[in-house]
Amino acid sequence: VDFDRAAGQVDAENFPRAAWARCAEQALREVLEEGGGYPPVGGDERLKRAVCLWLRRNRGFEADPELVSITSGVGAACATLARILRGKRRAADTAAVEDPGLPALRGILSAAGWRIRPVPVDREGVRAPRDPAALLLAAPSHQFPTGAILSAGRRAAILDWAAGCGAYVIEDDYDSDFRYEGAPIPPMASLDPDRVAYIGTFSKLLFPGIRLGFAVLPPPLHRDFLNAGRDAGIRPPAHSQRTLARFMEEGLMDKHIVAMRKAYRAKRGGLIAALREEFGESVPIGGAAAGLFLTAGLDPLRTRGGSWAARGVKARRAGDYALASVEDPDRFILGYGGLSKERIREGITRLRAALVSPAVEGSIRVFEEGAY
Ligand SMILES: Cc1ncc(COP(=O)(O)O)c(C=O)c1O
Repeated sequence: VDFDRAAGQVDAENFPRAAWARCAEQALREVLEEGGGYPPVGGDERLKRAVCLWLRRNRGFEADPELVSITSGVGAACATLARILRGKRRAADTAAVEDPGLPALRGILSAAGWRIRPVPVDREGVRAPRDPAALLLAAPSHQFPTGAILSAGRRAAILDWAAGCGAYVIEDDYDSDFRYEGAPIPPMASLDPDRVAYIGTFSKLLFPGIRLGFAVLPPPLHRDFLNAGRDAGIRPPAHSQRTLARFMEEGLMDKHIVAMRKAYRAKRGGLIAALREEFGESVPIGGAAAGLFLTAGLDPLRTRGGSWAARGVKARRAGDYALASVEDPDRFILGYGGLSKERIREGITRLRAALVSPAVEGSIRVFEEGAY
């Protein structure tokens, strides 16, 4: 049972295949009737409109349709933004990132020539950086791997910091789609659309293999983003974009989300119940208000983790994603998106067995930079 991979996976079993296939068939017909040419730079117009409506209804975000583009996901959008901003800021070369955070995204920034500066994340989310930087990459709606939701105070402090040093905030909205507690918070981009580059994805709403996402960017970045995409020949496939446009226009996305929220809520409930059963009622659980993973403080039952493979379970801790020293490094990150309720239950039993009686010495494999 791989709790680590499951954080990035969805419940593919329950994907509405027949409805999607129907949209795909119609989309392919339309795209070919239109000549089968290159899709527009920046994305299919119908999909962009559908995304704007979606953002308004689901995220309370009035995005300017002129500033929306369709991407191949958060990773791809981040890579393009990293390159553009690096070109603009020859002198300032520091990118602030959340610590702990996703090594893959740090890797994308390093590959574009940025010097990486870790900024600590605590229960309120990432702190406002103390020193100037050219950008901050953050996931305010459900930070990975802490699950923190950025507080209102921090949002304001970060925007003040960005205005003070002329930085852009790249808002990674990767894990915001499913929220189980509290009112949804609009993206930071709605507070300061000139300073925040908002990038979202369909990896969770649909499935990661779809490789589609969207960006809503400040005007100067939007222009450069379109040019960079055109120059690099990056355009998501026309028929995939149109299929998704139809899926959204017909209200199928809304239906899908309602069904999936229910499914994920049940899995999350099962995971919390299993943790309480195996580790006690007072086991500290965090980051569970949204997304497809939560965190659990399973100390003092520490292990070096070598027995895991033997126990048929795998999970990582916050410290595995850290650059500097972080709060609660031993907190476990437990993904549940891609696991059935039965596998979740089994996994927690295995996890407890592995923690209570570490059989083999060794350490959990450290995340390789650049891979997700
Ligand atoms: C925090 C975070 N942001 C972004 C991504 C990548 O998103 P996408 O699939 O849209 O490239 C991941 C993938 O694991 C992630 O964990």
